[in-house]
Amino acid sequence: PELAQAFIDEQIKELRSQIGDKKVLLALSGGVDSSVVAALLIKAIGKQLVCVHVNHGLLRKGEPEQVIEVFRNQMDANLIYVDAVDRFLDKLANVPEPEKKRKIIGKEFIDVFTEEAEKLDGIEFLAQGTIYPDILESDGVKAHHNVGGLPEDLQFELVEPVKLLFKDEVRVVGKALGLPDNMVFRQPFPGPGLGVRCLGAITRDRLEAVRESDAILREEFAKNGLEGKVWQYFTAIPDFKSVGVTEGKRTEGWPVILRAVNTKDAMTATVEDVPFKLLQHITERITNEVANVNRVLFDLTPKPCATIEWE
Ligand code: XMP
Repeated sequence: PELAQAFIDEQIKELRSQIGDKKVLLALSGGVDSSVVAALLIKAIGKQLVCVHVNHGLLRKGEPEQVIEVFRNQMDANLIYVDAVDRFLDKLANVPEPEKKRKIIGKEFIDVFTEEAEKLDGIEFLAQGTIYPDILESDGVKAHHNVGGLPEDLQFELVEPVKLLFKDEVRVVGKALGLPDNMVFRQPFPGPGLGVRCLGAITRDRLEAVRESDAILREEFAKNGLEGKVWQYFTAIPDFKSVGVTEGKRTEGWPVILRAVNTKDAMTATVEDVPFKLLQHITERITNEVANVNRVLFDLTPKPCATIEWE
């Protein structure tokens, strides 16, 4: 904590001298890295920072609301909230191929962000939540497919205050800056978000079902001491229905797949041994509370031979 405070003090000084009285733009996803960069810059330059939060409709339940609550309401940041849900979902309609979906989400994100940037006057800097592993990985070994990548035609000078830190260090700094634990210790979440967990062509009803079932899974993991222990856990929903029976009648509903994995570097992963009783309880909650879901499955496959995500 003392080291974190020293780092923060040092960065505030450096940021102030680099930025002066100019304005800085930041794409604030609500993930750990961009949130810590935002909190640092708010301390250093206050309203000279303009945060843009793009809601692409593929965020987890409560995330856009939390970004607004923490940054606008609590930290009094200059925050532009962009509701781009329809725009993304319209572009994604009828596109079943995972890589095409990723490309659309990535491109649309850059377009929305660039449009917002062009509306603003006098921005000279672009802040980014680049961390040290991003620099190590950008040598082409792993294709970098993070949403929020730099719009290349924006002519801004870069501000990357956590680029020499590892993830664990970023979390310590975030905590010292007063960010909430569920933001700082958040599990990894892919840039394309729920878009790659609503399998095949995204539809709004299945997207809602994946969001609601994910919220139940997270709530139950938190209640049962698995949050912070399991590396990544989420739900996915396939694009076919299964037959079920409700109140004596044959019904058709979506299956929901639960996944809970542990890993060090995401290159290989093992499956968490989730207590059976808890799985049964989660199944009961999801089938009772999530509309149009009548079946729950638990994915027992390690990586390899499966990947962590379903697409
Ligand atoms: P896979 O499915 O390849 O996932 O075993 C390994 C880790 O990477 C995350 N992931 C992504 N992250 N954009 C991201 O920012 C993506 O397109 C993407 N695809 C997978 C995944 O959640 C897991 O942590």
